[in-house]
Amino acid sequence: MKLKLDNVNKQLGGARILRDINLEIAAGEFVVFVGPSGCGKSTLLRLIAGLDSICAGDLLIDGRRVNDLEPRERGVGMVFQSYALYPHMSVYDNISFGLKLAKTEKSSLRERVLKTAQILQLDKLLQRKPKELSGGQRQRVAMGRAMAREPDILLFDEPLSNLDASLRVQMRNEIARLHDRLRSTMIYVTHDQVEAMTLADKIVVLNGGHIEQVGSPRELYERPASRFVAGFLGSPRMNFLPARLQAPGETSLVDATVLGMTTLPFDSSNLAADASLSLGVRPEHLSLKAAPGAAGVVVTGVEYLGSETYVHLDTGQDEPLICRCEVNAGWQTGDRVELQLDTDKIHLFDADGTALKRHPHAIESVADDLSLRSIRARAL
Ligand SMILES: Nc1ncnc2c1ncn2[C@@H]1O[C@H](COP(=O)(O)OP(=O)(O)OP(=O)(O)O)[C@@H](O)[C@H]1O
Ligand SMILES: [Mg+2]
Repeated sequence: MKLKLDNVNKQLGGARILRDINLEIAAGEFVVFVGPSGCGKSTLLRLIAGLDSICAGDLLIDGRRVNDLEPRERGVGMVFQSYALYPHMSVYDNISFGLKLAKTEKSSLRERVLKTAQILQLDKLLQRKPKELSGGQRQRVAMGRAMAREPDILLFDEPLSNLDASLRVQMRNEIARLHDRLRSTMIYVTHDQVEAMTLADKIVVLNGGHIEQVGSPRELYERPASRFVAGFLGSPRMNFLPARLQAPGETSLVDATVLGMTTLPFDSSNLAADASLSLGVRPEHLSLKAAPGAAGVVVTGVEYLGSETYVHLDTGQDEPLICRCEVNAGWQTGDRVELQLDTDKIHLFDADGTALKRHPHAIESVADDLSLRSIRARAL
């Protein structure tokens, strides 16, 4: 089933919780909502499920306005973060509970419970009570409860956040497989970046009750439309360096703190000279080279993670710059290094945090004055 939110707004106690939400979700799509705590993710799911009412705007399921339909009339199932199972009931009874309430005929009820249990690999556990199950198995029972009624749309609100790390990975894979098999439309809220990146066909980034950006994981990671999205997705997060626009134009002459004066392939024609900017670069797009003598910037810390190391650099800003390096790169605290970065991989944001457009033809024209497209840090 496809879903459309048309200018949806929600107020609670005088506060605007959701502002002008416009979103289209295709049938069978896996959509993930992310955003900081309190940005409205759960509220939006509850509006879709019909557990809360929409103040203004329309919710359409397959073209039909459903604002005034009861939750059970919408064909939507929801799995909550705190999925309390009925402790005295067996797995079978937990899964069949909603079907019984809906007065499903006995033989078709049994058939649906068995089918759901089979999909979730719970078929051998049907007689057990929740306390006789592992965390992951309980989580699957909670999903079974939502799925047994065969909803066309499944909503998940941080379903894995109670599980330990290895179980999360296992369940994440199971949810991906479940989606492949069922092909129902799924909307999934998570704080976990890996879940968002790996599960989503489409990620919706929410911030303070409005949508910042919608796109595939790759689009959002590689072409964030705002500094907020750029900083939100990715771990360690994108580094931001303060910069000043020297000469606006189709390409921009920019003075960027440690990097010095440089021409960058971004269109700043709509900005005034001297506008403040921030230059964003992800930790994996920075590379380091030993600096001679007292040149370059100082390594202030090295974090060893086994598969990679994070090198922290002092650039005179509040936060250190973080560079993701190979484990064998050999940097040590106190080393002096030059930064190198690829202008194809950097981002430039204006003072409001809006990403400047990359100039389509500018890359070649500026490549010459950026020898090898790398920028050398000047000594601080
Ligand atoms: N009944 C209520 N009255 C007033 N404000 C509310 C009410 N319920 C929620 N809110 C506010 O609405 C905002 C959005 O809440 P919501 O639960 O949707 O956030 P969330 O994005 O799911 O956060 P989290 O990641 O912490 O789960 C929050 O600022 C919250 O304080
Ligand atoms: Mg929430």
